[in-house]
Amino acid sequence: MPMEEYSLEDIPGVGEKTAKKLMDIGILDLQTLAHSSPVEIARAADISEDVAEKIISKAKELLGLTVFEDALSILDREKNALRITTSSKNLDKLLGGGVWTQAITETWGHFASGKTQLGFQLAVNVQRPMEEGGLGRNCLWIDTEGTFSSLRISQMAEALGMDIQKVLKNIIVAKVTSASHQMEVVEKYAPKIIKEKDIGLIVVDSITANFRAEYIGRGELAERQQKLNSHLHKLKRLADAYNLAVYVTNQVMMKPDVIFGDATVPIGGTPIAHISNYRIYLKKSKGNLRIAGLADASNLETGEVQFLITKEGIRDPEE
Ligand SMILES: Nc1ncnc2c1ncn2[C@@H]1O[C@H](COP(=O)(O)OP(=O)(O)O)[C@@H](O)[C@H]1O
Ligand SMILES: [Mg+2]
Repeated sequence: MPMEEYSLEDIPGVGEKTAKKLMDIGILDLQTLAHSSPVEIARAADISEDVAEKIISKAKELLGLTVFEDALSILDREKNALRITTSSKNLDKLLGGGVWTQAITETWGHFASGKTQLGFQLAVNVQRPMEEGGLGRNCLWIDTEGTFSSLRISQMAEALGMDIQKVLKNIIVAKVTSASHQMEVVEKYAPKIIKEKDIGLIVVDSITANFRAEYIGRGELAERQQKLNSHLHKLKRLADAYNLAVYVTNQVMMKPDVIFGDATVPIGGTPIAHISNYRIYLKKSKGNLRIAGLADASNLETGEVQFLITKEGIRDPEE
């Protein structure tokens, strides 16, 4: 039977009670369960890690996923990854074709470097048909800084000749006020919205602000990193389970011990570096010109490109 017809309770050992506990942490279907860790499942469902592991294996089995996978089938899965255009050929090229599904793309840079604007452009572009560089799907926008703007989205949509009302309707905005609220939205509510609204892009603008504001002291750094790490893992799981793109923005902070050279570093440090698949730094240049560089990515050459922020949205500078 097709995988959509299986439910959590089709797994031996998962009764109504366990299924409910899993749903409480955002595991609504076998796809998400198959991408979860035994520790997480054990904790949520109050079962042993051994049992949790068996449940996850069974989910994989029902979905036709196996623990051992040959490199060719991994290639097949990677081939299912899709791209959303940024509306800049330069930026698309830097990213290997656009912003990818099954991955987390992070931008970091100073105020006004273009992090949010790029998010707006993607929220519009994800809705365009595939032949125009979109996914024909919708956007979930998690706003932590109160900088989401329907007006700006309208401008960008109008420039592309799209139905503005429809574009706005298809962007679901969650305003979050704390790190715990942000985590709750991703864990508990996002999976449902993804399914109901056919979400192809999740934006978290910004991923770090709440964590930075709430875990201040040196003593809290480890806890902050651990929470951020888990938050990013949940986002990555959604990206994999639903073949969607995740775009997150990050502020920079001054590095106190650097005297020469670039003294700014992205917030969040190691967890983001390890989990984000594409990390782009953005820099202001003259006027509306911006510079983007690939910080690191395992399969792309690093380099810098230029792009513009115009009234119409993200564009390329004229040749
Ligand atoms: N309607 C617009 N027309 C042209 N440029 C705009 C418009 N709105 C914003 N911008 C540009 O975008 C910049 C802000 O970029 P933004 O993505 O919000 O920065 P951040 O990196 O802080 O998120 C502004 O300084 C301006 O140059
Ligand atoms: Mg911003």
